[in-house]
Amino acid sequence: MSIDWPLLRAAATTAADRAYAPYSGLRVGAAGLTSDGRIIAGCNVENASYGLTLCAECGLVSALHGAGAAPPAPPAPPVTPAPAPATDPPALVAVSIVAGDGAPLLPCGRCRQLLLEAARGGALLVDTAQGPVELDHLLPAAFTSTDLAARREPR
Ligand code: THU
Repeated sequence: MSIDWPLLRAAATTAADRAYAPYSGLRVGAAGLTSDGRIIAGCNVENASYGLTLCAECGLVSALHGAGAAPPAPPAPPVTPAPAPATDPPALVAVSIVAGDGAPLLPCGRCRQLLLEAARGGALLVDTAQGPVELDHLLPAAFTSTDLAARREPR
């Protein structure tokens, strides 16, 4: 899948314009390209109770799940058997995260972990000022559900 980075960065910049960041003054927007070709975005939302701050990537991942699976394409004649409707949200394949000035911002550690699962792996491409890098590069040796399954104790 080809990635239109200027388009993705523009979507992130639009989201950053909508951020609610009166406490830090750092507006952040995050836009992601999904495996089924959609662009989804989120922005940071702060709160007087500072610890409740939602990073832009949290909004992005919530929007990804909220969007759900893409509706099936209408059948073309002659009618072929309809595929089973997908229920899982699509995976993220690329993200651009920017500050209010429209320039890339690297995701915080917590959001790297969040993005890892939304992308279903570290092959997610992340926009940086130096060009796209894989999330694996930003979050090496990540803790995943595989570690959880292997190490949890039986109840
Ligand atoms: N912020 C994000 O939205 N994403 C990040 O990856 C880094 C930080 C926000 C949270 C807070 O509203 C502001 O930036 C300052 O930390």
